[in-house]
Amino acid sequence: MTAPRIVYLNGQFLPFEEARVPIMDRGFLFADGIYEVSAIIDGKLVDNAAHLARLDRSLGEIGIRNPHDAASWERLQTELVARNGVTEGLVYMQVTRGVAERDFAFPKAGTEPTVMMFTQAKTVLANPLVESGARVITVEDLRWKRRDIKSVALLAQVLAKQQAAEAGVAEAWMVEDGAVTEGSSSTAFIVSRDRVLVTRPLSTALLPGITRASVLRLAQEADLRIEERLIPVEEAYAAQEAFYTSASAFVMPVIEIDGRAIGEGRPGPLTRRLRDLYIEAARRG
Ligand code: PDD
Repeated sequence: MTAPRIVYLNGQFLPFEEARVPIMDRGFLFADGIYEVSAIIDGKLVDNAAHLARLDRSLGEIGIRNPHDAASWERLQTELVARNGVTEGLVYMQVTRGVAERDFAFPKAGTEPTVMMFTQAKTVLANPLVESGARVITVEDLRWKRRDIKSVALLAQVLAKQQAAEAGVAEAWMVEDGAVTEGSSSTAFIVSRDRVLVTRPLSTALLPGITRASVLRLAQEADLRIEERLIPVEEAYAAQEAFYTSASAFVMPVIEIDGRAIGEGRPGPLTRRLRDLYIEAARRG
């Protein structure tokens, strides 16, 4: 018999089937909420302090009170991971503005935020896509102007990922004014013709990826040349290597963009090295 799936909702650990949110939740009606995703490997959370710091920042940017400090978030996450016996996968956290009669502006009387977490068991380390390399397509970036906020309003990303799925590829890279902004759920990197690691600089145009920050730090420690600048799509096609990063993919090699082979059409050596460095650092904690 498998143990029942347990989720966290508003102070309680509950069987999945019993966790209910009212239809007037502003997350459901307006996507008025924030989420985070941390990976779990060897039963431990990866880069979690940085994910919790970004959660706090995102909530602050839209005026939702963070219901927990980092230490209590981590206690709750750890308990949920343990209760579900997850040793490799993800923990998903979501906070919405809470429940109120439908009205666009924030409820005057205030609301209790809705706080929810679940885990997903998933192969993160031995992901077969790492060996084959991922194919990606480019799509137009249809999103709003505050992409630095990790909002649950993900319709543009849902549509981008669906286009990728229909094209039979793993990810969609979103493009604005001829340059890649980021993946639909990841940060885009290339290794340029002159072997420089390139990723877009942080701004309100993209999410400040936690994995991005760790990979850049590791690249710096390894004395790699780094440039934070725009990546024109044409340059991405001609790159020596390409990859994307996220809490769920870690460092994922890209072997093809819009049907054009990247480099030699297989995962590149620098990408592999950065993935290994990231996993080593994650394991050290
Ligand atoms: N997505 N850019 C976007 C638009 C994202 O949704 C994500 C993460 C990233 C990478 O951020 P990080 O390295 O902090 O995970 C970049 C998560 C994994 C998701 O939506 O499931």
